[in-house]
Amino acid sequence: MTGLQDYLDSFDAEPGYLDWAKFGPLSPSVRAESHADAELLASGRNSGIDLVAGRAGEARELLADLLSTTVEHVTLQPSTTHGLMQAVYGLGGGILVSAREFPSLTVAAQRAGEVGRARPHWLHAAEGMVTPEAVREALADAEDVAAVAVSAVDYRTGYRADLPGLREVVGDRLLIVDAIQAFGVVDEDWDVADVVCGNGYKWLRAGRGTGFAAFSDRALERLTPVLSGFAGAESALDVFPVPPAASGAEAFTVSVPDHLATARLATALRDVRDAGVSEIAELVRARVREIAALAERFGLPVLTPLEPHRHAGVIALTPDPADIAPLAAALANHGIAASLRSGAVRMGAHAGTGEDSLRLLEDALTEFAGTRMR
Ligand SMILES: Cc1ncc(COP(=O)(O)O)c(C=O)c1O
Repeated sequence: MTGLQDYLDSFDAEPGYLDWAKFGPLSPSVRAESHADAELLASGRNSGIDLVAGRAGEARELLADLLSTTVEHVTLQPSTTHGLMQAVYGLGGGILVSAREFPSLTVAAQRAGEVGRARPHWLHAAEGMVTPEAVREALADAEDVAAVAVSAVDYRTGYRADLPGLREVVGDRLLIVDAIQAFGVVDEDWDVADVVCGNGYKWLRAGRGTGFAAFSDRALERLTPVLSGFAGAESALDVFPVPPAASGAEAFTVSVPDHLATARLATALRDVRDAGVSEIAELVRARVREIAALAERFGLPVLTPLEPHRHAGVIALTPDPADIAPLAAALANHGIAASLRSGAVRMGAHAGTGEDSLRLLEDALTEFAGTRMR
């Protein structure tokens, strides 16, 4: 794959697939990589096995490039949640988290609090949208907050956080970011955050097991790698005396990564880098605006803010409760894959979401509108 057009041409899932916020159908290059690597790992030759294992280094380099940091600041993780847990358990003080965040953060904060690590402070922001103003107010009331944790794009509303604005109000405290719904499809200044965690099975189209975490110098200084395993040790092969944790981000790892997964991640990251994140981001936003226009035409309220900097690929519609069942039926009848979540219909559009998918959505909404009139 060499550029944006190749990238767009590589979207080959069934038309009507609008569930990107849940799972990203694997790209052709990821599938091909996976098959080839499985053969290499079956070969019984060290050269083949080392070749697949070597893609981990490439994945870290590509992540460092896309996150505007260096390889020493990046680790591979089994999932977003593993990365976030490394950061949250590593924290000594209080952590401010919205009560409506995806449970990767709320559960980590709660459990870490129960064993005397991070002390959770719950933020109750309107619609769970973590604005700089809401954080400023909450920080004024809580003295011991050492970190603020937030999703770059909220899984439920599609709201894109104002990370530079949050950085300003968070000041010298740590800013921990769950980037899974944004990374690769949002042109973001990731280096304003101290910890950035994600996974490649949604917007990167890389499948599960492709998590990562990046730590700033400030995060490496202040977080204790309490969940550090042998792979996070300064020298992984020294058995005893137990070596200290590594000095860089590697300290925040437990064991050796799944090499089939990291090779998939490296492939997907290369595709994104070659296509260009800002080009992808612009197309993703345009698709979401098209879905929003359709929803509005059919009288369906849109919860997601539609200003260009406040959304990415996730869009949430909040129909009247009586409309949910007929709407869900119409979507299913027309082959639209979307998620129903707490009274909202959540859709996701990617750069390669085609006109055919939007036409199916229009047909579904036309059928739904017909049921309303009866
Ligand atoms: C915002 C957010 N964070 C975390 C997760 C879970 O990520 P992982 O499976 O990589 O732990 C999800 C999954 O939907 C999510 O939407």
